[in-house]
Amino acid sequence: MTDTILEASGLRKEFGGVVAVHKVSFNVARGEIFAIIGPNGAGKTTLFNLISGVYPTTGGELRFRGHRLARANPHERAAMGLARTFQNLRLFDNMTVLENVMVGRHTKSRYGLMAAALRLPTAHREERVIREQALKRLAMVGLEGRAHQLVGSLSFGQQRLVEVARAMAIEPQLLLLDEPGAGLTRKEVEELDDLVRRLRDDGMTVILVEHNMELVMGIADRVMVLDYGQKIAEGTPLQVQRNPRVIAAYLGEEASVGLHPEEAYVATQ
Ligand SMILES: Nc1ncnc2c1ncn2[C@@H]1O[C@H](COP(=O)(O)OP(=O)(O)O)[C@@H](O)[C@H]1O
Ligand SMILES: [Mg+2]
Repeated sequence: MTDTILEASGLRKEFGGVVAVHKVSFNVARGEIFAIIGPNGAGKTTLFNLISGVYPTTGGELRFRGHRLARANPHERAAMGLARTFQNLRLFDNMTVLENVMVGRHTKSRYGLMAAALRLPTAHREERVIREQALKRLAMVGLEGRAHQLVGSLSFGQQRLVEVARAMAIEPQLLLLDEPGAGLTRKEVEELDDLVRRLRDDGMTVILVEHNMELVMGIADRVMVLDYGQKIAEGTPLQVQRNPRVIAAYLGEEASVGLHPEEAYVATQ
């Protein structure tokens, strides 16, 4: 039996009159790379906001490691092992690369950012441990050599990797990546691809929202497709690429690169 880490059933989110997520159900197995794709406005980021607790749901249920998430705020979800990155960079430009990663860890630390900022003795030893762990995370994304540079001096792609390192700093069991490949050079996308595979090999579960179809189809174990807030398909990359509903949803979208309309005759699910 597969070990399910995240269960979503009948998830719904409404903003005023707009139904951004409509009765979406899916399960993510521990250790898999689960991709969520769909045209702009399909509800992908909203789904991440529901899972990470940025917004309350207007219906349905979420379970993480068997626990109902409804009452847990974002910090509690992070402490349970759920981490995310954001579609737009959220780094502190006036801080070093290392400090940015350390901020991620402080959200889980006992004494917190304030005690560290005040340099209280209780926080001192913990500070050192956090620093060492942050350096390890930076090494994982290949940026340990940049630790003491201002984060703003890095390339856009490297800054995205810093965000991943920061999310990893809480030692999550589930990592949500919102369009990590956006704006990256080809080489940076390859590094990202490699990083996500290594995370999975280390036992991490990854949910990936991404427009780069080559990246998605290359690394995802399973893909879920959203359109206008609804799930229109789910399956292996090959099944999804051949699904006529998916192809129709992507017609006219530049992201259709990688979907093969000529294979549309094979209906999968
Ligand atoms: N905070 C919000 N307030 C109002 N509408 C929102 C909000 N967030 C998202 N939406 C709407 O929900 C829909 C889905 O948006 P989003 O989840 O960002 O899509 P995606 O990430 O797939 O591009 C869009 O119609 C968007 O305008
Ligand atoms: Mg989005």
